Amino acid sequence: MATISIIGSGYVGLVYGAAFADLGNHVYGIDINEEKVKQLQAGKCPIFEPGLEEMLQRNISAGRLEFTTSYEASVPESEFAFICVDTPSAFNGEADMRMVRSAAEMLGKTLRGHTIIINKSTMPIGSGDLVSSIVEKVKPTGTTFAVVSNPEFLREGNAVRDVFQPSRIVLGSDDPAACDEVAALYSTLNAATVVTDTRTAEMIKYASNAILATRISFVNEIAQICEGVNADISVVSRGMGLDPRIGPLFLDAGIGFGGSCFPKDVRALAHMAAESGCHPQLLHAVLEINQDQRRRFVHKLQDILEDLNGRRIAVWGLSFKQDTDDIRESPALDVIRMLIQRGASVAAYDPAAMENSRREIPDVCYSDDQYGAVEDADALLLITPWNQFRQANLEKVRELMKTPVLLDGRNIYDPEDVRKLGFVYAGIGR
Ligand SMILES: NC(=O)c1ccc[n+]([C@@H]2O[C@H](COP(=O)([O-])OP(=O)(O)OC[C@H]3O[C@@H](n4cnc5c(N)ncnc54)[C@H](O)[C@@H]3O)[C@@H](O)[C@H]2O)c1
Repeated sequence: MATISIIGSGYVGLVYGAAFADLGNHVYGIDINEEKVKQLQAGKCPIFEPGLEEMLQRNISAGRLEFTTSYEASVPESEFAFICVDTPSAFNGEADMRMVRSAAEMLGKTLRGHTIIINKSTMPIGSGDLVSSIVEKVKPTGTTFAVVSNPEFLREGNAVRDVFQPSRIVLGSDDPAACDEVAALYSTLNAATVVTDTRTAEMIKYASNAILATRISFVNEIAQICEGVNADISVVSRGMGLDPRIGPLFLDAGIGFGGSCFPKDVRALAHMAAESGCHPQLLHAVLEINQDQRRRFVHKLQDILEDLNGRRIAVWGLSFKQDTDDIRESPALDVIRMLIQRGASVAAYDPAAMENSRREIPDVCYSDDQYGAVEDADALLLITPWNQFRQANLEKVRELMKTPVLLDGRNIYDPEDVRKLGFVYAGIGR
């Protein structure tokens, strides 16, 4: 059993806090957001993540998991401190490290004895040294510490499963003994472990997200070509994915990637590349294609409806992907903004992300159910492929709509079936 502080109780920190507690450790979840901490102390999960609330409650009740805003109340007792704060994009694409800097400083000031500090947030290459230098400056005399980079690969919507069945554990440090101790925290998971130096570990995270984003933009570019030459991307993807050298994952054409990781991490890697004298042409293309996908989607709608001014457009799905309430860099929000700019009114529905979206874009009519959103609509845009949209009653949808136009941003419907129901249908690359 170890005593662990998890700094930052967001999508990553909360799942890790609950998981380490579930494995029998004593965990303190620290956050500077007082409202969030109050909610967590009451056993309420502030985010939508399948299976998380139950795991939080179980461990809070067992006394293994506590939430606090106080570093003083938790860090001195902890052998391990995980930094899980947000590292969003700054205005120029680089990672905004202000939260990491302030977490490292507060953490450093409250160290006692020997502590292993683990960088779990996605941080630019060289951040291990940055955190070390901040802590070194402020730590109390006589205390010692080591820094280990341990990047995270969990997927929102699947996070609880991913934490207990990780594809791999990556550990990077100049202190092999510290790596061993962190590896021991994960030992019961029997995961493949890569132990390396700090910078290489940091790079593994960025390179992993970049290749996944690249596959998505690649397949979306192929989808554009399919539209030009009258081929079907769904079948092309399947035909490609059966090749074991290629594999089927991340080959689904659609409206592009969003979320709190891919866009910002590709931007940050491109920024680091440029700073170190490289010319990251591929990374720039990946981002450009992704942004184009959103614009092309709106243009497609415009081609069908001719003028968007005064039109009522229904949107199904607001989160950046299914099974999460996370709307950071969600394609749906960009599309909605473009529609509003062109004079359309928007009615939207999402099973989990309406509250977050309402805060971001208040001038949308948020509907309590998916069918309410399509009433009198001139077109329906499917943007997030939640399960409940896959087998929706499309006959009912057609009857409720003013004009039966369906744009399928994730290719979840069979074009033939939908057209037979009387819809004008457009997907991506088919
Ligand atoms: N979300 C994912 O799916 C995912 C997956 C892998 C890696 N990551 C990386 O993990 C990191 C965290 O991501 P997230 O999605 O959990 O972010 P998040 O925004 O959901 O959570 C971050 C939390 O940190 C808190 N915080 C900020 N500064 C703090 C401080 N000084 N002290 C204590 N708390 C502080 C915030 O209040 C917030 O609750 C990021 O670097 C991200 O790139 C995220």
